[in-house]
Amino acid sequence: MKNILITGGAGYIGSHVTEFLVKNKKKVFIVDNLSTGFKKLINKKAKFYNLNILDGKKIRKIIIKFKIDSVIHLAGSLIISSGEKNPKLYYKNNVLGTKSVLLACKNTSVKNFIFSSTAAVYKDKQKIVHEKSIIKPKSVYGKTKIKAEKIIISNCQKLGINYAILRYFNVCGASLSGKIGLIANTDSLFKNISVALMKKNPIIKIYGNDYNTPDGTTIRDYIHVTDLAELHLKILSKISKTGKSTIVNCGYHRGISVIETINEFKKQTKKNISISYEKRRPGDLAMVVANNKKLKETINWSPKYYKLSTIVKSCIKWEKIINR
Ligand SMILES: NC(=O)c1ccc[n+]([C@@H]2O[C@H](COP(=O)([O-])OP(=O)(O)OC[C@H]3O[C@@H](n4cnc5c(N)ncnc54)[C@H](O)[C@@H]3O)[C@@H](O)[C@H]2O)c1
Repeated sequence: MKNILITGGAGYIGSHVTEFLVKNKKKVFIVDNLSTGFKKLINKKAKFYNLNILDGKKIRKIIIKFKIDSVIHLAGSLIISSGEKNPKLYYKNNVLGTKSVLLACKNTSVKNFIFSSTAAVYKDKQKIVHEKSIIKPKSVYGKTKIKAEKIIISNCQKLGINYAILRYFNVCGASLSGKIGLIANTDSLFKNISVALMKKNPIIKIYGNDYNTPDGTTIRDYIHVTDLAELHLKILSKISKTGKSTIVNCGYHRGISVIETINEFKKQTKKNISISYEKRRPGDLAMVVANNKKLKETINWSPKYYKLSTIVKSCIKWEKIINR
């Protein structure tokens, strides 16, 4: 694993994965059309191509020219509410986009393929999910991701490519480098609160406080983006060495509610945050937490940034940097 192509490398998670790969002396090639990504998140040591993932021919040329051995496919559309409004666009980007990237790898030097899937593929009300839990996505977004997973599984076997499907839980936080973090508001709770806190009288909307959870608000397994970034390289080297493909949950096996998160922000900033309670949003699940036993059995992973206080601190620091 020397030459790695990453789609979506100008995005939030992609920029953190790239930062980690570059630190580990990998040659990184980024394909991104900047639809939700940002030029300033592009790592200076990576080679950048402003390309749509649907342009498989051009991607193939890059793969051949630079003898790419591994592809990390992160480009996609991910806002649950926007997927409900634009199902065709989500299908095109997440399903056809994945097919296009995968077919660009056919009969090339690519040996490993990593895909960013999501906890949104699981059926609601299962609470703590392992990889064999029932798959029944409630949202259009989740449906497109599971379709993409199936395409990867069936094609990689035929193409002789090892794959790892990473089902990310809720990604948050920012790199301690202070150079990258979440810029666009992708409906992330941590981002919403960070943005609100930059205002004089912060208000935060909570969508539903009547869920069957201890405080009535939704519960998620929030994972710090730098811990997640590290997983990519570890899993890549594992599948490359063993030749065994895998599907793994990427989370800490810990649930945090919306209210708990808001309280931690309040504690650190000593600011009052007004809460506006709204109706539940279609597609939202009550609670999703990762059973990460398989992840821990797959790689030797010691997450460093898991404390809620550490995550919140990194969000506040990043928001101040981008508002300077
Ligand atoms: N952020 C999360 O909490 C989370 C959770 C689960 C899964 N994921 C998955 O992780 C991946 C990355 O998410 P992110 O949070 O970094 O989002 P992001 O929007 O910051 O990054 C996506 C990147 O892909 C690029 N892109 C989108 N469509 C493209 C296309 N057709 N051609 C080329 N580039 C394109 C965008 O410009 C952007 O830079 C997504 O596939 C998402 O579904 C994210």
